[in-house]
Amino acid sequence: MKFSLDDKTKQTLLNAKSIVFFTGAGISAESGIPTFRGKDGIWNKLKPEELANFNAFLKNPKLVWEWYQHRKDIINNCQPNPAHKTIAEAQNSFDRVTVITQNIDNLHKRAGSKTVYELHGNIERNFCIKCKKEYGDDVPLKEGLPKCECGGLVRPDVVWFGEYLPQDVFQASEKEAENCDVFFIVGTTGIVYPAASIIYLAKNSGAYLIEINITETDVTSSVDQSFFGKAGEVLPLIFSEI
Ligand code: OAD
Repeated sequence: MKFSLDDKTKQTLLNAKSIVFFTGAGISAESGIPTFRGKDGIWNKLKPEELANFNAFLKNPKLVWEWYQHRKDIINNCQPNPAHKTIAEAQNSFDRVTVITQNIDNLHKRAGSKTVYELHGNIERNFCIKCKKEYGDDVPLKEGLPKCECGGLVRPDVVWFGEYLPQDVFQASEKEAENCDVFFIVGTTGIVYPAASIIYLAKNSGAYLIEINITETDVTSSVDQSFFGKAGEVLPLIFSEI
């Protein structure tokens, strides 16, 4: 792949102290995890609203758990790719590196990123809907369903349709976006709110915006620099130049 950084982008990165990576499903596509809206997206095959909401869970917890177990199995068999790894390695070159992700797949942490704000939760965590006790994958099963010791149903710690984002995580993400020098937008359509509002907060706060995506998005016209290509190829190339 022919690649070179323009002077402005290179200089901005060289001078940057604090950088943020705002990531979406596209960054994990090369690890083998289907995106939501692409041509192979999982939402082309089934209606997420029917499964990913609290009422669906109360009505048919077994079905919802089957779906999440299926996704967990896919994710457990996937590894962080060069995009996740490049972001983790950037921690050695900048004063402050923050990942703000819409993904629930835990691949940023598995790659070694230390500050990761998970706006939509994490599929490796679960909690009891009654007493809020937190569980990992060690949830006791009763009658084939994950149940807390208090008797409550245990659910995945992910954000479902109609639910608020975790407010502490969202506020911390907003603060990073307001104070960073460079804000990368990697592998996201940028159309799901309130997560996407963080992009425009970074822009209005003066950050230099760099987008990496295989295609144009709703965000493209607002960024300072776009790279069209796979995140696992483009990110290593960018950071090999600085
Ligand atoms: P989408 O599936 O909407 O978008 C994936 C984006 O990644 C698209 O813009 C693709 O063009 C791009 N893409 C695909 N492969 C790529 C690659 N190898 N390198 C770079 N870019 C690539 O996923 P999100 O934008 O993450 O929320 O979706 C946002 C939210 O929508 C999700 O977190 C989920 C869903 O509702 C919840 O579940 C709460």
